[in-house]
Amino acid sequence: TMVGEPVNLNEFQELAREALPKMYYDFYAGGAEDQYTLEENMEAFRRIMIQPRILVDVSRIDLSTNVLGYNISAPILIAPTALHKLAHPEGEVVTARAAAACKTIMALSFTSSCTLEEVASSCNAVRFFQIYVYKRRDLSALLVQRAERNGYKALVLTADSPRVGRKEADIKNKMILPKLKNTERFLSLEASSDNGSNLAAFAKETKDASFCWKDIEWLSTITNMPILIKGLLTREDAIKAVKVGVAGIVVSNHGGRQLDYAPATITVLEEVVQAVGGRIPVFFDGGVRRGTDVFKALALGAQAVLIGRPVIYGLAAKGEYGVRQVIKMLKDELELTMALSGCTSVKAITRRHVRTERERLH
Ligand code: FNR
Repeated sequence: TMVGEPVNLNEFQELAREALPKMYYDFYAGGAEDQYTLEENMEAFRRIMIQPRILVDVSRIDLSTNVLGYNISAPILIAPTALHKLAHPEGEVVTARAAAACKTIMALSFTSSCTLEEVASSCNAVRFFQIYVYKRRDLSALLVQRAERNGYKALVLTADSPRVGRKEADIKNKMILPKLKNTERFLSLEASSDNGSNLAAFAKETKDASFCWKDIEWLSTITNMPILIKGLLTREDAIKAVKVGVAGIVVSNHGGRQLDYAPATITVLEEVVQAVGGRIPVFFDGGVRRGTDVFKALALGAQAVLIGRPVIYGLAAKGEYGVRQVIKMLKDELELTMALSGCTSVKAITRRHVRTERERLH
């Protein structure tokens, strides 16, 4: 291949592009409409500078951290992403094994291509389960119960998707959604009627677009798992999330796949962190491709980051080994960044270790 042995996460993207049929690559890589938010997620990181401290003893660096009571090897988690079998014949089972090998947490997507039971029985990683609420509340409740029974430790409620964002590459490619394993027993997927992508049509038919803040209470009555709200971008909603009593927040714009021109997540992280005021943990995703990106998110108050596309690219390019390599590269880069910035532990990374664009202009 042109890339050879990859040396960073972006090169895994190139390998995945070579390995995958165009339709699937576009599905994974793409964003909504103009893809402004998709690109801005990564661009915004470039405008944040790191302010190192010198002459610190950095002969030992500890990357480990704790997420909802679980000790993990680094503040880097696997984001819930759909349909891993389009990237690898065994799908999420392989991703989960890599998560276990890296001693980190995997959030399994509601729209996974392996069942949540298959993933649970294939590895001993700490697993979270991501959920979309269906119009058929009973089906959602059943899924939540299945997740809890199968040892998933938290419920990630993705709240930025009452409808599905318009991804034009999928429409052009006539991307057809394969069977959704977690729900296939109850819901059949009709082929698209408008000969574009059937994804949006399916979501519109099944998802409960009326689900709102008051319904979080219902969700908490049907499970003992802590609930994280994913897809939050403003201080107003952060205050609401604290009020309804969720266990945490994931600042996310769905990797630029939902509302285009939503702000880059790294530009709103601090606003959310300040509104939350330490009452619940704030997690972060969107555009993390470098150890320096992880460092910047931690400095701005995230407890850990999640990575979406890079995991899929690793899976597509090199299977379980690829996912492990992706996580290891990011960990190694973070460790080096910490050493060069004078931070020997995750806790030692402070707000004063970064300078945002606004601060530079003043
Ligand atoms: C996603 N994401 C996502 N989120 C979610 O809650 N449920 C899901 O099923 C999916 N599916 C999905 C598929 C694909 C192909 C992508 C790329 C993303 C969003 C995901 O959890 C995360 O928010 C973003 O991927 C983070 O951005 P990066 O790391 O991809 O830049």
